[in-house]
Amino acid sequence: MSIVGVIGAGQMGAGIAQVAAQAGYQVLLADVGLERAEAGKAGIAKALDRLVTKEKIAAADRDAAIARIETVGHTSGMAEAEIVIEAATEREDIKRAIFEQVGRVLGDDAVLASNTSSIPITRLAQASPDPARFVGVHFFNPVPVMGLIEVIRGLATSDATVARIEAFATALGKQVVHANDAPGFIVNRVLMPMLNEACFALGEGVATIRDIDLACQLGLNHPMGPLTLADFIGLDTCLQITRVLFEGTGDPKFRPAPILVKYVEAGWYGRKTGRGFYDYSGETPEPTR
Ligand code: 3HC
Repeated sequence: MSIVGVIGAGQMGAGIAQVAAQAGYQVLLADVGLERAEAGKAGIAKALDRLVTKEKIAAADRDAAIARIETVGHTSGMAEAEIVIEAATEREDIKRAIFEQVGRVLGDDAVLASNTSSIPITRLAQASPDPARFVGVHFFNPVPVMGLIEVIRGLATSDATVARIEAFATALGKQVVHANDAPGFIVNRVLMPMLNEACFALGEGVATIRDIDLACQLGLNHPMGPLTLADFIGLDTCLQITRVLFEGTGDPKFRPAPILVKYVEAGWYGRKTGRGFYDYSGETPEPTR
């Protein structure tokens, strides 16, 4: 049975570990300490419980998936993995440190992949032991629900590496799209300007939060309005990706909306901090303007 390592047991890493375990892979789940990895695994157990309650999966399948996930306290535990996916915080220094650590134990034939949403793959590959075996594998939130994986090849990524990561993504039941190593890849290149524009519209008084969201939800048939989605992703993440687009292309059309910058400066990051464009302290989210 193939072994997959997942580094980072937060929302994305736990989601990746869950779908990999459900697809039959043995999963090694790591975080900065065993405790965090175990918290990630406990969250996966809850998510699988919900699927059992909804009769989407059998209790035996839940138990088997959970049994396939082994938590590890350190990246040295990744020596056995054939594919290692980094899904840590979106900070280049942190990701580089992880690649250097895991690079010391990575198998001679193993693929190292990053779930980065915006950092150039070619640049990150420089911190990996072998840029030919380094690739971008971009999942979407919530991972168990979203059917897409973007595969991003860096300048040195080999065809064999792309083929292996594509086979893995397909085994998870996801559709694969290929993107070159350009700022924002495909989805964030298209999505972030829309979310940013919704922020401009709000800041310029075009409409209220409710009406901007309702307009896009019903007028475009989107599952969530853009401001709700920005809160869901995290306003800090949206700003960071928008800055990558702005700086990476040098094109002023990507400049971040002032209100997005202000909210991030205020620490209002969205759902994860309890406040963004909506206030999440009550039963249902309430628009703040
Ligand atoms: N984990 C697992 N399953 C989840 C979930 C989660 N966090 N949230 C919702 N679901 C499941 C529900 O259980 C439900 O399953 P069912 O139909 O089998 O019962 C299904 O998704 C629908 O959920 P709900 O009925 O509760 O609510 P919605 O119909 O509003 O769906 C949503 C929720 C799937 C999150 C939907 O609103 C949606 O698709 N929103 C857009 C998400 C999106 O655009 N994600 C991409 C973000 S960009 C990104 O990730 C890239 C990064 O780099 C920024």
